[in-house]
Amino acid sequence: MTQAREVSPEPMTTRRIGQHVKGCYDRLFGGKATPSAGLPIHRGKALAALLHYPLEILNDLPDHIWDCFLPCGNPLPHLRPSAGEKILNLGSGIGIDSLALVRGSASPIHVVNLDVVPGALFQFKTVAPPPGNPPLELRESSISCVCAEGDRLPFRSGSFDWILMNGVFNLFIDKERLLLEVQEVLKVGGRLVVMDLCAAGELPEYFKEEMDGWAWCMSGACTPSRLSRMVEASGLTLELFSEIDKVDLLHPMGLVARKSYTRG
Ligand SMILES: C[S@@+](CC[C@H](N)C(=O)[O-])C[C@H]1O[C@@H](n2cnc3c(N)ncnc32)[C@H](O)[C@@H]1O
Repeated sequence: MTQAREVSPEPMTTRRIGQHVKGCYDRLFGGKATPSAGLPIHRGKALAALLHYPLEILNDLPDHIWDCFLPCGNPLPHLRPSAGEKILNLGSGIGIDSLALVRGSASPIHVVNLDVVPGALFQFKTVAPPPGNPPLELRESSISCVCAEGDRLPFRSGSFDWILMNGVFNLFIDKERLLLEVQEVLKVGGRLVVMDLCAAGELPEYFKEEMDGWAWCMSGACTPSRLSRMVEASGLTLELFSEIDKVDLLHPMGLVARKSYTRG
């Protein structure tokens, strides 16, 4: 059996891919591109309904905001924050998962939307309120926004009870570094929830050079065995790994991993 390649690409390639990915989302959240335009895939509110998001708690969001909703799955059943807990939505985009969490939670929680693209956070803050209601940023005072790189997190060790990455994990080439950063800012007992695509086998080499494939979570997809090795090597314990529609080479997956100790 062939071993999965775990060779890190050259720094130049890493930088080029990172810049391309950011450029794509910059254009998208700046209104200069339409997500998945022309592709025969579900989008926006229709996608949210298909993924069983609780639309009743999101129904007052304006239609245009749904065009920038780009999840790989519905993480809500895996996120069970208790009162006062802190959640980092890493690569939040416009932060619809954060809104769903805060609105669906019976007790007060605090969510941080983190994204490298300022336009994404700006869209969250300026969502037009329905007539007569205060702006979203006032209503959702338990959500704050931070603009930063996901693999250089500007938080102290042990800051979060939960970290969510929905359609974000595969954008990073150096996933080992990302996971170390994530486990550092998680509290002991805290959990990482990832929704993304995984690969049934090693991807053809040309996939790795496909720049748009990186931006759409495809080129960075790993096999389940590589994923579990990386998660465990970072010091997290894999609690759940589920794959959906395994018939395709690339298919959605969800994982939950727990930080059970502090790395020495
Ligand atoms: C596929 S979208 C998912 C957005 C959101 N989680 C959702 O479900 O709608 C990927 C997000 O990751 C952000 N992103 C890309 N590179 C990043 C990086 N290096 N650090 C933090 N966020 C990044 C993009 O700006 C974009 O908002």
